[in-house]
Amino acid sequence: MTDKQNAPANNGKKVGRAPKLDNGFYSQDIISVSQFTRENLEYIFGVAEEMRAIVKRVGSTDLLKGSVLACVFYEPSTRTSASFIAAMSRLGGTVIPITQGVQFSSVSKGESLPDTIRTLESYADIIVIRHPEMGSAQIAADYARKPIINGGDGVGEHPTQALLDLFTIEEELGRVDGLNVGMVGDLRYGRTVHSLARLLCLYDVQFNFVSPEILRLPLDVMNEIRNHDLPVSETYDVSEIISDVDVLYITRVQKERFADLSQYEEVRDLYVLTPELMEDAKEKMIVMHPLPRVGEISYAVDSDPRAAYFRQMENGMYLRMALLAAVLGKA
Ligand code: CP
Repeated sequence: MTDKQNAPANNGKKVGRAPKLDNGFYSQDIISVSQFTRENLEYIFGVAEEMRAIVKRVGSTDLLKGSVLACVFYEPSTRTSASFIAAMSRLGGTVIPITQGVQFSSVSKGESLPDTIRTLESYADIIVIRHPEMGSAQIAADYARKPIINGGDGVGEHPTQALLDLFTIEEELGRVDGLNVGMVGDLRYGRTVHSLARLLCLYDVQFNFVSPEILRLPLDVMNEIRNHDLPVSETYDVSEIISDVDVLYITRVQKERFADLSQYEEVRDLYVLTPELMEDAKEKMIVMHPLPRVGEISYAVDSDPRAAYFRQMENGMYLRMALLAAVLGKA
């Protein structure tokens, strides 16, 4: 029985924030990047490298044989859902996949989030949830006795994406300290940007944010960067920063987040990375994107060795294998 299972039920009350991972990952919820220290990150990245080696060598292991993962996605997903399912499968465990739309679950009959979570934890050892409302993963964790992993909560956070993003930066460039990081596109609603920017505050980096006025980085994230005394610039024009950055993190303008679609139409095509723009970039830099893309990176950039977004996507599976093994006490 895990520490979390020993805890008293909370009778439906919301409780606090997921704690720091001071005592490791075992039995912990993974809700926010604010839980991580640099030591936690080094540990989990080391495990992810081992997972990559296992997959390349033999494809799978039985480390989590007998364990069950429930994947419940109230929002669309390809990478997060598929990589968690692949991760659990390659570790020898099994999956309850509620990922093809919760309309096929009892949510469509009006079942609440807490009751859905209580149901799934009766069958599974760990739950990954994606939900359109910010804070929903924490609410799920407050009700659950089994560990909850946040697979994206509205415009809030996407911590496992930030972990795989940072893992990719280290793998590609060999370091994080001293890097100049450009983030482009939907910085306001982009939960991957919020989580990665917060995680990068643990390092000595310089930030360059590129967006239209209505998609600027939220003040709370900007304040967190300022509290860490990290250099930061904001501009509307990607050509102003492209020659300076070591990491260019491009994001999709998310139509689904706009209440007023005319505002979306105004900004949807502002940024398109092309081979011509890449001519001004450093020889050793990387282009990243959490994906999916809908036009903000030209397909002609894909063959550029600096285009790291497909390698980044693959890293997601190794990182999520590491996380599942660590939270279930088998890393
Ligand atoms: N990066 C990411 O979260 O992709 P999906 O929406 O496909 O899961």
